[in-house]
Amino acid sequence: MSFCSHFLLLVISLGTVVVHNGVDGTICCAPDQWEGHMYLDYMQIFIDSNTLYLYFNGSVNVSYDYTNSRAFYTIVGTEISPLIPKPEPLNKTYIFDYKKNMQYAIDSDGSCEKSKIDQNMTRQCVQDSGILKSSGKVGDNIITDTYILTLSESFNNVRGTIQRDSCLPVHMVYLVGSDNPDSGSVFSLDVLSTVPRIKNPAIFTPPSSCLKTSRKQSNSKTSQQLETVLTEVFQKRMLYG
Ligand SMILES: *[C@@H]1O[C@H](CO)[C@@H](O)[C@H](O)[C@H]1NC(C)=O
Ligand SMILES: *[C@@H]1O[C@H](CO)[C@@H](O)[C@H](O)[C@H]1NC(C)=O
Ligand SMILES: *[C@@H]1O[C@H](CO)[C@@H](O)[C@H](O)[C@H]1NC(C)=O
Ligand SMILES: *[C@@H]1O[C@H](CO)[C@@H](O)[C@H](O)[C@H]1NC(C)=O
Repeated sequence: MSFCSHFLLLVISLGTVVVHNGVDGTICCAPDQWEGHMYLDYMQIFIDSNTLYLYFNGSVNVSYDYTNSRAFYTIVGTEISPLIPKPEPLNKTYIFDYKKNMQYAIDSDGSCEKSKIDQNMTRQCVQDSGILKSSGKVGDNIITDTYILTLSESFNNVRGTIQRDSCLPVHMVYLVGSDNPDSGSVFSLDVLSTVPRIKNPAIFTPPSSCLKTSRKQSNSKTSQQLETVLTEVFQKRMLYG
C-alpha cells in the first residue's frame, strides 16, 4: 500500500529491524509524483525606525514529478503592505524543467519569462537529521508526524508535518530571522488534497509564448522574495530538504 514501496529497504542495525521506506539517510520519501493544493501565508516584518510589514496570502496548485525531473505550480494570491498603495494581486504559473535546466514564469497575460536553473532537482525526503517533535491525526484518521528540520543554513528550525504512511506533506511552517533582531519573516504552508500521481502531464509543456526570447520583467521586491522562498521550498528542497 506504500507509494514508496520501491524504496523499501529493510535495514538491520544493532539487532533491531528498522523499516525505512525512504532511501539511505532518510526517514521517508514522498512519492516521486504527486499533486496538491497549498494555502500559503508569508509575512515579513521590519522593526526599524519605521515598522513595516509585507503580507502575502494565496493558494498554490503544485505538481511534482521527480520521475521526469520537472515541477509545476500556479500561485494566485494578494500582497498587502503599507508600502504599496493597494493590494497587489499575483497570478503566475511556474514550470521547472530540470532536464533542460530551464525555468518558465508565465504571467496571467500569457507573457513568459525564461531563466536558467542552477539547481538539481531533489527527491522529497525527510532526512535522518529530522527530529520527531510530535505525532497526531488529521482528516480521516490519517496519522501525521511533525519534524524539526534544517533545510539549509538560512532555513533551519523548519517544522514539517507529513502523513506517516505516504510521507506526503501536510503542513510546514518556518520563521526566518534577520540581521536586525526585531525583524524577520514567517512562512506557513498547508498542503491539501494531495494525490500520488500527475493527472495531466500536458501542464509541464510551456505555452508558445515561452518559445520566443523574452525580456526580463520587473517584479516587485516582495514578488522576487516570495519567488526565492518558493523556489527554495518547492524546488530545491521542496518541503523537507
Ligand atoms: C488574503 O488576505 C486578505 C486580507 O486579509 C483576505 O481578504 C483574503 O480573503 C485572503 N485570501 C486568501 C486566499 O486567504
Ligand atoms: C487549482 O486546482 C483546482 C482543482 O483542480 C482548480 O479548480 C483551480 O482552478 C486550480 N487553480 C489554478 C490557479 O490553476
Ligand atoms: C489567473 O490567470 C489565468 C490566465 O493565465 C486566468 O485564467 C485565471 O482566471 C486567473 N485567476 C485569477 C484568480 O485571477
Ligand atoms: C547536478 O548533478 C550533476 C550530476 O550528478 C552534477 O555534476 C552537478 O554538479 C550538480 N549540480 C549542482 C548545482 O549541484
